[in-house]
Amino acid sequence: MDTNLLLNIAQQHGCPVYVYDGNKIESQFQRLQDAFKGVKKLKINYAAKALTNISVLKLLKKKGSGLDTVSIQEVLLGLEAGFAPEDIMFTPNGVSLEEIEEAVKLGVHINIDNLSILEQFGTKHPNIPVCIRINPHVMAGGNSNISVGHIDSKFGISVHQAPHILRIIENTKMKVNGIHMHTGSDILDIEVFLYASEILFETAKQFKNLEFIDFGSGFKVPYKEGDLETDVEELGEKLTVRFNQFCKEYGKNLTLVFEPGKFLVSQAGFFLAKVNVVKQTTSTVFAGIDSGFNHLIRPMFYNSYHHITNISNYGGKERFYSVVGYICETDTFASNRKIAEISEGDILCFHNAGAYCFSMTSNYNSRFKPAEVLVYNDKIHLIRKHETIKDLLHNQVMVDLD
Ligand SMILES: Cc1ncc(COP(=O)(O)O)c(C=O)c1O
Repeated sequence: MDTNLLLNIAQQHGCPVYVYDGNKIESQFQRLQDAFKGVKKLKINYAAKALTNISVLKLLKKKGSGLDTVSIQEVLLGLEAGFAPEDIMFTPNGVSLEEIEEAVKLGVHINIDNLSILEQFGTKHPNIPVCIRINPHVMAGGNSNISVGHIDSKFGISVHQAPHILRIIENTKMKVNGIHMHTGSDILDIEVFLYASEILFETAKQFKNLEFIDFGSGFKVPYKEGDLETDVEELGEKLTVRFNQFCKEYGKNLTLVFEPGKFLVSQAGFFLAKVNVVKQTTSTVFAGIDSGFNHLIRPMFYNSYHHITNISNYGGKERFYSVVGYICETDTFASNRKIAEISEGDILCFHNAGAYCFSMTSNYNSRFKPAEVLVYNDKIHLIRKHETIKDLLHNQVMVDLD
């Protein structure tokens, strides 16, 4: 996004602020659709957890996306954004049967990821079709915290437990309309996707009434110039051939489903924060910003890389900095990073701030959450206001202790 535009937004709306490029979100959606144009029935369900602002959900709906949700609250947000219930998939992990039944009442698709709930659900609701999340036991993902398809993962029903799934179906007469996997995030190697897909195809053969196969997500995006990304075009070509062949063998044109989060919104996001203090110590120069891991937790949480540029001195002579936040714990965004010379008051821009950034914010240290702005077709829209002390107190009850 243009540096001057970002500076204008920082001035107009104040820092810290998240800025999203709506046209980039659209073009990523289009790119994935194009990569799988050889599939007769394709469904892309945006993984809402990456970024749940209702205006972003609306934008994706306009583009024809469905929604992948992991909590009843995400389902409600999706409905609020205008998604039809049949375009929403509920893929929770470890939630109660009551929460799943709430989703059923709202008319959304259900994805079940453990045998206990499968049996209880099938016994009570044999006529409501469900999808089943399989754990293919494939180690994939850019970091252990985001690798979820391996043997020690809490997600999905083990592929080796297929006989038990079939027994539950037989006993309860429940309907299974889909089969699903999601092995992790930031998967670069398309061979990993293809290998896991083969396991899913093998499992799918055992279910006679499928309507779709959901391959989850995990596409890696570039985090800096020259960085590698998943080749979705090559994956599209190879998986399309295999999927179409599977459908032929299965005797039915199934829908191929993906549920990307990062791929659609990561690169479209920019986080702008102001430098409060430049502090020299015996070993480094710190740039302390008006933000912290309460606003962008990924570097502290799983060591993720966010490229940082000084948009107040764009293209200026570079020096080495450690960029830190104001939270009263270690709060490091970047160590010993080359950034254009920083002065107090400058605006720093964090790239790849669309996915798992605002959606993981908190009010830790009683700080307000940042504002969010959407730039779409050259128009600037404020899509979330800065919080105020009223928001912090909103649900608190001050009791009379006298
Ligand atoms: C079930 C499920 N589907 C999709 C996603 C989206 O993954 P990504 O953001 O890597 O595309 C996630 C992310 O954790 C997930 O848990």
